[in-house]
Amino acid sequence: MTSQITIRRPDDWHVHLRDGAMLEAVAGYTARQFGRAIVMPNLTPPVVNVAAAAAYRDRILAALPQNADFTPLMTCYLTDGADPTEIEKGFAQGVFVACKLYPAHATTNSAHGVTDIRKLTDVLETMQRIGMPLLIHGEVTDRDIDIFDREAVFIDRILTPLIRDFPALKIVLEHITTAESAEFVADSGSQIAATITPQHLIINRNAIFDGGIRPHAYCLPVAKRERHRLAVRKAAVSGSPKFFLGTDSAPHGIDRKEAACGCAGIFNAPFALESYAQVFEEEGVLDRLEGFASEHGPKFYGLPLNEGTVTLKREDVIVPDVVGQGDIRVVPFHAGETLRWRFAD
Ligand code: NCD
Ligand code: ZN
Repeated sequence: MTSQITIRRPDDWHVHLRDGAMLEAVAGYTARQFGRAIVMPNLTPPVVNVAAAAAYRDRILAALPQNADFTPLMTCYLTDGADPTEIEKGFAQGVFVACKLYPAHATTNSAHGVTDIRKLTDVLETMQRIGMPLLIHGEVTDRDIDIFDREAVFIDRILTPLIRDFPALKIVLEHITTAESAEFVADSGSQIAATITPQHLIINRNAIFDGGIRPHAYCLPVAKRERHRLAVRKAAVSGSPKFFLGTDSAPHGIDRKEAACGCAGIFNAPFALESYAQVFEEEGVLDRLEGFASEHGPKFYGLPLNEGTVTLKREDVIVPDVVGQGDIRVVPFHAGETLRWRFAD
């Protein structure tokens, strides 16, 4: 039995690092495991211009532990009024790496999101021309659509016409959760890719209702039926360069989760790689973890692969019930469970 694995240092292509005290509490977890991360811009107020992104990047760098070897990759939050000139400037300056499309009201801090994608025609033309990736939260927000169907309906209503209208636009369908998404991405051209979270590889929707309501298993897009989990898992371990690691680690304090209207988001950063390794091992393809975690993402983004390596040892690790202290106490993914791999510093 393999007792340890060493892979090229991985990246996280979708993470929420937050701001202020939460940023201070969580940044080190991501920086410990990953060389780079695509940082989501859904702060309050959202990161919509170059100055705000540069200032946020500085706050992230200031929050890192000393000697951290980590580069935050910044994103621009698209609104109805998004300015193509500002976006092109930020991309040319190396501040913006991608733009993030949240349909208005789809998820946490998305009130400023896009109400109608047709309002973005100039922005999308610019992004297509300069080769800047569009990262999509792929759910319709129509309240008449069943929450478990919102991702599949998004593909039909929004994504398919979008790809037809902008055939060279690089698109990452973020945190896919359905067989429909896995199939759609696999069948699309090489300009379309997807990120996959640990939770969508490991839990199905039963986890949210396991003997009672389980707020810490609730994120968006919400976990789906078992057959969808299996399809997403198959895509992740397939070796296809279209699928890569994006944790969607999304910390919320315990009181914000355990509430009458609890926030969506699973905090998986502390044991992210351990989680993914367990999945690849269960599927008998640990040798494909490196492609998924460290190679497919940079190749899609046109960035160099990281230098250096990380090692996982086969040792049991008990995940704490809570991490952080004071106001910033967060329940991590896998709380109280024993994982089979330990990230070795
Ligand atoms: C994210 C958050 O809390 O910012 N929540 C989540 O459930 N994933 C937002 C998002 O990515 O949808
Ligand atoms: Zn997210």
